[in-house]
Amino acid sequence: MLVTAFLFLFCSAVIFYLALEKFGTIKLAHNFPGPRSFPIIGNSWYFLKPEERLPNLIRLQKEFGNRVLLKGGPLKGLVLFHPDDVQKILTSKEINKSSLYDMLLTDWLGSSIFYAKDQDYFRLRKILLPALDTKRVDNIEMNFNLHSKTLVKVLKIQEANGITPEIRFLFSLCALDMVIQYLVGKRTNCLSSSNQDYATAVHNQTKYISDRGCSPWLWPKIAWKLSKNGAKENTNIEFLHSFMDKIVLERKEEISRSKTIKPLNLDDLNGAESAEKEKLKLLDLLIREQERGQFGITDKYIRDEINFFKFAGHDTIASALTFTVFLLAANPGEQAKLHLELDEVFGTDRDRNVDATDLSQLKYLECCFKESLRLYPPAPIMLRKIDKDFQLDKEVTLPKGLQLMVSPWAMQKLPQFFPEPNKFQPSRFMPENAAGRHPYAYIPFSAGPRNCMGQKTAMIKAKTILAHVFRSFQVQLVNPPEQMIPMGSIIIFPKNGLNIKLKSR
Ligand code: HEM
Repeated sequence: MLVTAFLFLFCSAVIFYLALEKFGTIKLAHNFPGPRSFPIIGNSWYFLKPEERLPNLIRLQKEFGNRVLLKGGPLKGLVLFHPDDVQKILTSKEINKSSLYDMLLTDWLGSSIFYAKDQDYFRLRKILLPALDTKRVDNIEMNFNLHSKTLVKVLKIQEANGITPEIRFLFSLCALDMVIQYLVGKRTNCLSSSNQDYATAVHNQTKYISDRGCSPWLWPKIAWKLSKNGAKENTNIEFLHSFMDKIVLERKEEISRSKTIKPLNLDDLNGAESAEKEKLKLLDLLIREQERGQFGITDKYIRDEINFFKFAGHDTIASALTFTVFLLAANPGEQAKLHLELDEVFGTDRDRNVDATDLSQLKYLECCFKESLRLYPPAPIMLRKIDKDFQLDKEVTLPKGLQLMVSPWAMQKLPQFFPEPNKFQPSRFMPENAAGRHPYAYIPFSAGPRNCMGQKTAMIKAKTILAHVFRSFQVQLVNPPEQMIPMGSIIIFPKNGLNIKLKSR
């Protein structure tokens, strides 16, 4: 049975590969350097082991330079390491997301904005952006303070019981509570009730996606479905969908009971100050559009879009917070400077809400967070595809069909832009030190017309949580910093989580 399954997987991978080789071969007019590749597996051994993926990206840049050609299965991909090239790619409105994302994410995230192409993308972006408007800041502050305080309470209990908490998972639960309340207005209380099922399912899903993405022989759907992780992914996705379906359904019932939602006039979205616009949550906005019969919006589309925004705004934040805590715990001198700033802003008050004025004063905290996003950008790579021949420079035209990879992880460590690149130096982001830096050398939120839609919200959220945690605690690492191994997945995380020692201040 096992042998038959293996043969079947192998044959379908070979057929898939040969078919794409035949129909999808790309002719490169230019010879780019790159490592030797083999049929089907291409160069995938560079990315097979999650703990080696990120260091290998840096090795590739050092060995082959700023434009490196890789092969994965039948596909050719060019990794661009230099910010000049990256700027050209990310500012082009003609370059869309890679088709690999369609293959890897569609079962889970359906037809969300993430894959929308060309003008469809920009139209959708304009419609959805108001739901992330930072003018909803009061709402944000109340939501974000509430959940940050719950986190501090959980940490206090753990400290009192002599526990050294695994902070990544607690951040993940906290971020999930925040993002769901923010997008759909519902309290999930994952953190306070220690309900880990949904957060665990999201985390596992990102691992399945990354592992499949790095294994070209599992790209054919049938091969993936028959594999061990493919089967697990099926069950996982069913659970994730039913969780979100229930939330959407409940909200629709609430709305039809209360009838408080007025039809949205789309023209308001272009108006300068619509009070209605400021209050919209993403779910309500989508339900209104559906009620108005706009864009053929279905319940499934609403679920997909909420699922995508939740994914985009959940584990990314948890990852960024985990590494910021890691870096501050590993660098007590920088942590002491942060405590000084927090004491200047809050005095001895360890409990009051963080408000917009506080956030604007927490400049050092912002530098620490930005420097953490430089060293450990939550999304370590971004994939694109050339849909029409593209002139990269005078000599080089990138042909239609070529896949592209941009890696904030590798690029943000180029020493010509960040001297002593592996050192945690928050002061790099003081305005006087950042002035004149290449605008595309640092892109943790991507950049250009398709950059992260939640960037401003993410900064507010992260600063609020970090201000609460560091106001209340001094943080130390349980294990030596060398033992923290960042794992290259869709989102970066430490291999074994991050256990910390807390001391109340
Ligand atoms: C530290 C936190 C975050 C980081 C580092 C981050 C990073 C990114 C990056 C790199 C992209 C571009 C991906 C690509 O083009 O392949 C992206 C896209 C996106 N992000 Fe974020 N993000 C964060 C938080 C958030 C939050 C809180 C939200 C909203 C709740 C959000 C919403 C989005 C959306 C909707 C997109 C898709 C834009 C598009 O497809 O064009 N993000 N994010």
